Amino acid sequence: MDAKVHELLNQQINKEFYSAYLYLDFSNYFKAKGLDGFANWYMIQAQEERDHAMLFYTYLQNEDVPVTLEAIAKPDKVFSEHMEVLKAGLEHEKYVTSLINDIYGAAYDVRDFRTMQFLDWFVKEQGEEETNANDLITKMDLFGSDPKSLYMLNQELAARIYSAPSLVL
Ligand code: FEO
Repeated sequence: MDAKVHELLNQQINKEFYSAYLYLDFSNYFKAKGLDGFANWYMIQAQEERDHAMLFYTYLQNEDVPVTLEAIAKPDKVFSEHMEVLKAGLEHEKYVTSLINDIYGAAYDVRDFRTMQFLDWFVKEQGEEETNANDLITKMDLFGSDPKSLYMLNQELAARIYSAPSLVL
């Protein structure tokens, strides 16, 4: 495997685990505010990010190249209102999309078609992640300021259930 592609794929393991840690922190924020549904939504988001990390980890192992695990950064954002959390989530997903695109570009440059095919799932997934984050902001914008509506939105988010990723390596 090309050294640059290898380095970026290895870094992505850490980025995805950081994403899981970040969303766990978001879940923790909402739990403390008594919004269990939002806490559930971000808890499942954290589980999905852990799955993403493990897909990169497994892909490198399957390719028989070394995996190096680095320290995971501390989630250090402080929020003064709920909407800030949701917006931070969308910004983070856009950042992750840019990382996936960078790896894809590096793989494309060296005609690493197998890595490109592996990343195709993530390209699609990032589209869904950004849509989900956007939808949440729209709903919060519409209903967040009314306590009864916020209660119902919280109930809706409480119903989200975890499902394993459709990509199996
Ligand atoms: Fe693993 Fe939310 O991107």
